Amino acid sequence: MPDPFRVGLLGHGTVGSAFRRLLEQRAEAVAGVAGRRPEISGVLTRSQGSFEDILARSDLVVELIGGVEPARQYVLGAMRAGRHVVTANKQLLSQHGDELWEAAVENEVQLRFEAAVAGVVPIVRVLAETLAGSYVERLHGIVNGTTNYVLSEMAGTGASYAEAVAHAQELGYAEADPTEDVTGLDAAAKMAILARLAFDAAVDLSDVRYEGIEHITVDDLEYARELGLQLKLIGTAERIDGGLSVRVHPAFLYGGHPLASVNGPFNAVTVESPDITEITMSGPGAGGPQTASAVLGDVVSAMIPPPSLPHRLERIPIVSDVVSAFYLHLEVADRPGVLAQVAELLGLQDVSVKSVVQKGLGDEARLVMVLHPVLESRFFAAVRLIGRLDAIRSAPRSIRVIEEEFV
Ligand SMILES: NC(=O)c1ccc[n+]([C@@H]2O[C@H](COP(=O)([O-])OP(=O)(O)OC[C@H]3O[C@@H](n4cnc5c(N)ncnc54)[C@H](OP(=O)(O)O)[C@@H]3O)[C@@H](O)[C@H]2O)c1
Repeated sequence: MPDPFRVGLLGHGTVGSAFRRLLEQRAEAVAGVAGRRPEISGVLTRSQGSFEDILARSDLVVELIGGVEPARQYVLGAMRAGRHVVTANKQLLSQHGDELWEAAVENEVQLRFEAAVAGVVPIVRVLAETLAGSYVERLHGIVNGTTNYVLSEMAGTGASYAEAVAHAQELGYAEADPTEDVTGLDAAAKMAILARLAFDAAVDLSDVRYEGIEHITVDDLEYARELGLQLKLIGTAERIDGGLSVRVHPAFLYGGHPLASVNGPFNAVTVESPDITEITMSGPGAGGPQTASAVLGDVVSAMIPPPSLPHRLERIPIVSDVVSAFYLHLEVADRPGVLAQVAELLGLQDVSVKSVVQKGLGDEARLVMVLHPVLESRFFAAVRLIGRLDAIRSAPRSIRVIEEEFV
């Protein structure tokens, strides 16, 4: 009988307790695949267990505490003691990636984190292993289930932003304090982790610019539907002229984009590469049992040699000004010449109009336009000038549009 494979478990909350149950249920099946039977050798919470004792009795440490400290000290301590580590901790990985990668390389241990991004969707494995030899050009991701649920609810039922957030909280899709989700911060942390893997580059949360969904209104969604567009909170990581851009913002998608049909609390990631054209994976982005399944998959991978080791990463410059298409919503005085004035200011910055919807509302009119791709700095310069026109009745609203369709 081979020795059991001893798993030290740090954290026993939603994911930790689901992971322990799953590991106990699946231990025999894992033994059949990996040759050793995994067992929990100790559990650490705020009220039980000692890290040093658990470390001494473990072949691998699973960190499911969350947050930066003390998780960082425990993960580094485990790797420095020669233990493989599996974690679901996006905050830690996105803020201390260099230190963690370095510790994994120096100590020749595995650092696995499938559950940190997009829950059970196996995007980390696909980038780190399946596409390890491919040149990845771009990722687009819906990596936050809360905001995807809120936007789907607003588009589907006409609910306001506040109503949709309240409904998400009732259903357990949003935390009591949803700030990290709705501001885009959670998605930004996940995109930093994906960019690190996709581009073999030392990307941190501080390299990612992000916007949230708090300012989205129902009428933006209604006009967009007339133009054949769906609104999502999209994370993008792409190569631009030898540099990288990693960002999160609301964006409209045309119906042929693989992410346009991802609704509710689901997550999905699209990978584009000249070698593979495009692949998209989708599935539940959170939940105790779902996340636990991704954690167990990492444990099994770590048990089966040969180990895939982290390696040292390049520093690639971050590009701040990128090319985007835009949706522009203007409330204007309904009088002759306004559209021409707007078009002239756009034209001065090389912004050209792809489509326009105009609605008369008594003395006022709404102009809703989709604009062709242009450098963002040029677009925002034009919008600043448009905002100063006499005929403008409220601050212009703009949302990016992703133009690709893969059908
Ligand atoms: N929940 C999800 O659906 C989901 C999805 C994807 C990824 N994740 C990630 O999974 C990780 C765990 O999330 P969760 O939802 O399971 O969290 P949780 O329910 O809040 O559980 C956290 C656990 O960590 C323990 N803990 C907290 N501070 C500690 C400390 N200082 N020392 C020792 N133990 C401590 C807690 O102990 P007590 O029991 O004593 O309070 C609890 O057992 C996080 O990194 C999260 O981002 C979660």
